[in-house]
Amino acid sequence: MKKICIVGTGYVGLVTGTCLADLGNDVVCVDNNKEKIDCLKELKMPIYEPGLKDLVQKNVKANRLSFTTNLKDTVEKSEVIFIAVGTPPKENGEADLSFVEDVAKEIAMGMKNYHLVVEKSTVPVQTGQRVKETIQNFVDGSVEFDVASNPEFLREGSAIGDFMQPDRIVIGVETERAKNILTEIYKPLNVPIIVTDIQSAELIKHASNSFLATKISFINAISVICELTGADVEKVAEGMGMDKRIGRSFLNAGIGFGGFCFPKDLAAFIRISEKLSYDFELLKAVEKINQEQKELFLKKIEKALWNIKGKTIGILGLSFKPNTDDIRFAPSIDIIKGLQKDGALIKAYDPYAMDKMSKVLKNVEYCKSPYEVAKDADALVIVTEWSEFKELDLDKIKKLLKNPLIIDGRNIYDSEKMQKKGFKYICIGRMKT
Ligand code: UGA
Repeated sequence: MKKICIVGTGYVGLVTGTCLADLGNDVVCVDNNKEKIDCLKELKMPIYEPGLKDLVQKNVKANRLSFTTNLKDTVEKSEVIFIAVGTPPKENGEADLSFVEDVAKEIAMGMKNYHLVVEKSTVPVQTGQRVKETIQNFVDGSVEFDVASNPEFLREGSAIGDFMQPDRIVIGVETERAKNILTEIYKPLNVPIIVTDIQSAELIKHASNSFLATKISFINAISVICELTGADVEKVAEGMGMDKRIGRSFLNAGIGFGGFCFPKDLAAFIRISEKLSYDFELLKAVEKINQEQKELFLKKIEKALWNIKGKTIGILGLSFKPNTDDIRFAPSIDIIKGLQKDGALIKAYDPYAMDKMSKVLKNVEYCKSPYEVAKDADALVIVTEWSEFKELDLDKIKKLLKNPLIIDGRNIYDSEKMQKKGFKYICIGRMKT
């Protein structure tokens, strides 16, 4: 059991802290947002993530997990400190590391004996070095410390499972002591641990996210070729995916990737490469294809409806992916804004993201169910593949719609079945345009 401090209660910080407490450690999560900490103390979650609330409750009750705004005191009492604060994008795509620097200074000032400081947030390669220098400048000279990189690979919507059963744990360290502490913490998970230097660990995170984003843009580009030739992208992905060297996952064509990780991390990696005098053209193309995919989808809707002005369009799904209420960089935002610009009236439904979206997009009629969205709409547009949309009573939907037109950005239905049911069904990469 270790005494652990987690700085930052965002997605990564809160899930990491909760899961590390569940593994038996004594964890204190710190955030300078008092409102958030007060809510967490009352066991109110700032995000929707399946299973998180129960796990927080369980570990708070067991006295292994607590929340505070007092970083200095918590640092003093902890052996291991994970930095999981935000690294939001600047205008030019570069990651803003000012929170990381501020926290490193504060940590340094609270350090009284040996501490291991671990970067958990996604940070540009070489940030570990900067964190180390910052701590060195502010710490009492006699205090020993190590810095390590331990990137997180969890996905929103399946964060707890991803944390508890990861494919691998990556640990970037400079000393045996730091390596031993981190391997001990993760030992109960019984999964492969790869130990590297700090820079390599930082790069593993950039490279993994960029590679996954590349897979998505690749299949999206293939979906365009499918539409031009009459091939079916689902079959192409299946055939490619059966090759173990390629794999089927992350080959789902759609309306492009969103969320707070891929778009931001990709932009940051392109900027880092530029700063290192390397023009990462491949990743620029990945970004471009992703942007174009949303534009192509808008064009599809426009083509199907002929004139958008004055038409009512029903949107199913607002979060950037299912099982989360996160709408940051969600494709739904660009799609709704694009349709509204052309004069469409928008009705929308999402099982969890409507609260957050109603603060961002006011001019939308938020509905209680997919059926309410379909009622008298000129078209239904599937933006997020929530499983409840796959189970809809399509005969009922057809009766409710003004036009039996569904434009599906996630390929959740069988084209043939939809046609048999009498829908005009437009999807991604599965029909000749
Ligand atoms: C992603 C990575 O998968 C995690 O490993 C990583 O830890 C995380 O970023 C992060 O850096 O914090 P996440 O953004 O939660 O996780 O979600 P993903 O499931 O990876 O999906 C990202 C986007 O890609 C979504 O918009 C999703 O709809 C899209 N996507 C995914 C596709 O369009 N096609 C696919 O085949 C897969």
